[in-house]
Amino acid sequence: MPSGRPERESSRGEEAAQQQEGPPTGMRKGLTSYGDAGFSLFLRKAFIKGAGLTDDALSRPIVGIANTGSGFNPCHGNMPQLVEAVKRGVMLAGGLPVEFPTISVHESFASPTSMFLRNLMSMDTEEMIRAQPMDAVVLIGGCDKTVPAQLMAAASGKVPAIQLVTGSMLTGSHRGERVGACTDCRRFWGKYRAEEIDDAEIADVNNQLVASVGTCSVMGTASTMACIAEALGIAVPGSASPPAVTADRIRVAERTGAEAVALIGRQLTPDRILTAKSFENALRVLLAIGGSTNGIVHLTAVAGRLGIRLDMEAFDRIGKETPVLVDLKPSGQHYMEDFHKAGGVRTLLRELRPLLHLDALTVTGRTLGQELDDAPAPFPQDVIRPFDQPIFAQGGIAVLRGNLAPGGAIIKQSAATAALMEHEGRAVVFEDLEDLATRVDDDALDIHADDIMVLKHIGPVGAPGMPEAGYMPIPRKLARAGVKDMVRISDGRMSGTASGSIVLHVTPESAIGGPLALVRTGDRIRLSVRQRELTLLVDDAELARRKAQWQPRPPREGDDRGYRKLFLTTVTQADQGCDFDFLRGTRDNGSTPVGKP
Ligand code: FES
Repeated sequence: MPSGRPERESSRGEEAAQQQEGPPTGMRKGLTSYGDAGFSLFLRKAFIKGAGLTDDALSRPIVGIANTGSGFNPCHGNMPQLVEAVKRGVMLAGGLPVEFPTISVHESFASPTSMFLRNLMSMDTEEMIRAQPMDAVVLIGGCDKTVPAQLMAAASGKVPAIQLVTGSMLTGSHRGERVGACTDCRRFWGKYRAEEIDDAEIADVNNQLVASVGTCSVMGTASTMACIAEALGIAVPGSASPPAVTADRIRVAERTGAEAVALIGRQLTPDRILTAKSFENALRVLLAIGGSTNGIVHLTAVAGRLGIRLDMEAFDRIGKETPVLVDLKPSGQHYMEDFHKAGGVRTLLRELRPLLHLDALTVTGRTLGQELDDAPAPFPQDVIRPFDQPIFAQGGIAVLRGNLAPGGAIIKQSAATAALMEHEGRAVVFEDLEDLATRVDDDALDIHADDIMVLKHIGPVGAPGMPEAGYMPIPRKLARAGVKDMVRISDGRMSGTASGSIVLHVTPESAIGGPLALVRTGDRIRLSVRQRELTLLVDDAELARRKAQWQPRPPREGDDRGYRKLFLTTVTQADQGCDFDFLRGTRDNGSTPVGKP
């Protein structure tokens, strides 16, 4: 098809492009090394013209679009519609959209666990942004680890970036009851284990839990990261909550594309948006939504890329003054589509306003305060509570310390049993996931409801990849007897959609000889959320004896090569976000939270 321009003009355009002043932009960015820059550009344009692009198109600012669609990722099942809408927005604003693929990671299709692949996805994304000629990038993610990976990549790059999430799935209906992944997945599986429902019912509900494409419909990790991205200012205002299959979601995508072009003119790079103040805003939101505990690990990793340290003591302090206001499962009762109808993150930010750093910049080039001034007016709704009528008076997550977790541990108190928050019990230890699977349902297992279940070797190195196995199943014989919750302690994570009295991220982990490795069945452990304490009630001399006898486990098959070797030798502990040590920022840019504005 004719380009509408004479051939001569295209070579003149090329010359002009080569003579452009200032740092290279568009097609001239990051030329391939052939030893002749003019030839590199000539060749690049020749190839892309093979796809039918004109010189006019190629002279526009280029917006890369990271496409994470995958047949193995139904949470990103609306990717084609989102990419199309982002492209429309880019073109309406005068830019040239170019989509490119990266790794896509889904929670249920990644073995041994999606967290094992998060850093790989972040490296893939970062390097593709760096290697390919784009003036800005729209990062489309959604499922739990994808948004953290993309934010880590954005934080490490110098390219203006906007996060777009795929949006939540719709809820389904099971025998008249509203259901949605994945809090209800766990609830129904728990009932099935307790023999409260039969094979036919568990098969029926399996068809209803995920009613459409999109991310989990509760305040799990995906929804948490969507809210966090908006609170950080790296996603357009109002973008976190529209469900995946709605017109609102498509409009957000179009707007994101247009904003990406505007970002180029502003040269608003991620390091100007992702600051200690914006991380604090995000942490406030994490607390107020009763968000996923995984959000802490991910925020630590993103901030770490910029040399900003997440101060867990300060986080715990702001937790005491930040109530849970969002009534969503697993801490409350509603679903993401209800959160959207209630106004989404902007309604919440309005309630939190006195606690926020309103001067933090957003991708729109305006401050958070300016965006809130122009946010839609409030209206009556019952999903996002007023500040003085919280569903939980303190933030959802508490930070614990003690001789069992010198590097810290966390508990999602808003989704736990209040009566177990002050508890002393006998440890029943499972050495690893295999041991747990073998013994937990054995009727001969010596365990009682007031015991404390301890699981080792599910930390960053141990499993490897710190799987979401901290949500240990209640032993079947206790489940049958009606026990719904017990104190459970591990060095692993748990799904943001899960609930229970579950102590997670015990640091340092057992696989590298942390105190958790020394716990034996019969020891006593004290948990006091009020005192922020997690104590192994064994005297120091005995612990020193056990430590002297402790040996690391021998390498497993596959530990000595490829990505797994890189992972095992460079992954950091939970208190550093489980990022690879060589990817963290080298400059010290202080810590977050910085404290009330
Ligand atoms: Fe993808 Fe829950 S499995 S968001």
